[in-house]
This record gives sequence, C-alpha cells and structure tokens, in this order.
Amino acid sequence: MIDNGRNPRRTPYPWRVVIPVEDSTDPRIADYVRLRDVDLRKSLEGGRGLFLAEGEKVIRRAVAAGHRVRSMLMTAKWLDRFADLAGDEGDVTVYLVSDEVMEGIIGFQVHRGALASMERRELPSVSEVLRGARHVVVLEDLVDHTNVGAIFRCAAALGVDAIVLSPRCADPLYRRSVKVSMGAVFSVPYARLKDWHDGLAELRDQGFRLLALTPAESAVPIEEALTGGRTALLLGSEGDGLSSRWLSEADRAVRIPMSREVDSLNVAAAAAIACYLLTAPARG
Ligand SMILES: C[S@@+](CC[C@H](N)C(=O)[O-])C[C@H]1O[C@@H](n2cnc3c(N)ncnc32)[C@H](O)[C@@H]1O
Repeated sequence: MIDNGRNPRRTPYPWRVVIPVEDSTDPRIADYVRLRDVDLRKSLEGGRGLFLAEGEKVIRRAVAAGHRVRSMLMTAKWLDRFADLAGDEGDVTVYLVSDEVMEGIIGFQVHRGALASMERRELPSVSEVLRGARHVVVLEDLVDHTNVGAIFRCAAALGVDAIVLSPRCADPLYRRSVKVSMGAVFSVPYARLKDWHDGLAELRDQGFRLLALTPAESAVPIEEALTGGRTALLLGSEGDGLSSRWLSEADRAVRIPMSREVDSLNVAAAAAIACYLLTAPARG
C-alpha cells in the first residue's frame, strides 16, 4: 500500500511500502536529512551502521558489493528504474518525494534523482586485504572526505590492490567520499589499522616495502625508489603530513619533485602520481 496516512492506494509493483513524504522535516526520513552536517552524519552513521549512496551508478555499485538497501528516497520517475532493488519480498521502503522536497532535503537539485540508505558491512582485517595484494596505499589521518574519495577513485583506476587506513583516517563511506570516489569505495578492498603506533609492522611482516611520501627535499625522487615487489605507499594528512613515527617506520622517504615555489601537492594529486608510477610496470 501507499501509506500516506489518509488515502491508501495500490503500491506500484514490486515495491510494497511506498511512503509519500511531503515535508522535509518528516522524522521518517531522518536518515536523509541534514546531510551537510558532518558531525550529525558521523554520529548517525556510527550509531546505526549506515551510509548514504547517491545516484544510480553508485547505488548499484554498493549493492553489487553486498550492501543491503535499508530504504530509498526518490522521485516517482525512478520507481520503475529501481524496481530490481525492491528486495525479494518488496520490503525495501521507498520514501517518495517531489523534486521540491528532494531539493529541500539535500539543499540542492539532485539530477541523479535517488538516494539510498544502506547498511555497512563488517570491514575485513588488514591481513585479509593484504593477502594476494602487491600494490597498497596507506593513509595516515586524512581529514578531508573529498581527498579520501578521490584517492579511492585513483586507486581503482590505476590498479592498486588495497587501501589501509590509520585508526583516525576519515571514513570512506561518508557521503562525500562515496560520491567523489564514484563508488570505488565499494570496489577497492580496504581495512583499518587498529593500532597507529605499531600498525605498520603488519605490512612489513608481510613483505611490503614501505615508501613514505613526503615533499621534503631530503627524500629521494620516487622513481629511484621503485624496485618492484610488494610496495606500500604511505600518504600523510592534509595539514602536517606523515607523522615522525610513520616516517621513521618507513623503508624510504620518497618525493615527487616539484617546482620550488610550491610547498606540497594536494594529497590526492600526490597519490595519483605515485600510484601511476608504482603500477605502470604491472599495467604494461
Ligand atoms: C598537503 S601534503 C602535507 C604537507 C606537509 N606540510 C608535509 O610536509 O608533508 C599531504 C600529503 O601529500 C603527500 N605529498 C604532497 N606533496 C608531495 C610531494 N611533492 N612528494 C611526495 N608526497 C607528497 C605526502 O604524503 C603528504 O603527507
């Protein structure tokens, strides 16, 4: 049934529960509101184990990666298009909104027309994602979700096998990261270190050579340090860069040579260049 509390009608097959929502403050769409409030989203997602995917391509990539759809928010024109996501029992709830309400909820026009609230899955362990991997990126304490998403996208494009996050690194499933990654957060395996101080030992124990990316002049140009074999590229936070602890844990400090007027590259730009150089031989 379409349940608007007043006028039940037949639900468009195969959806069983379609709830028209006429007001963006309706508590039933709490998962979707105030999307720009980073702190609120973090606490919601942390507490309820959910994340939001936006747009058909990203939603489908999340589903293909095994994430369960909890509910969807869409305008009527998407009902048929997403019919295959209704669930075996048609039990995925749809919140049906007008273009205006959608705009009121997310603060701008959504041309991609649909949002899905999805359940997180338990992350694999670090040793699981390292198994069989040859080229790995390790992110220390990045705070910017756009950078995290961009690094996942470049890792997927350039054939990096896995990403390892420090305990405090920003969440790849935050909505901005998911969007910027174009869904690569669902295709590149990743895990989070439990221990920042000694966490890199696990990579070394598994035979990875650790290359610390830093703009410091004292570091060697990255091309001189790429020797083949299992390699992990360590990238530091947007402000301070890699910690002295991780720099000292690395086998080598490497740099991407730059013109002298510039202090450093954006971390996602540095990742793209370094990943390209690292994986070029494997791509042939
Ligand atoms: C914005 S930078 C941080 C700048 C910081 N002041 C520092 O000295 O590292 C963020 C990260 O991008 C990477 N990065 C930026 N420019 C780089 C370069 N020219 N060579 C190698 N890595 C670079 C490093 O991993 C760095 O930790």
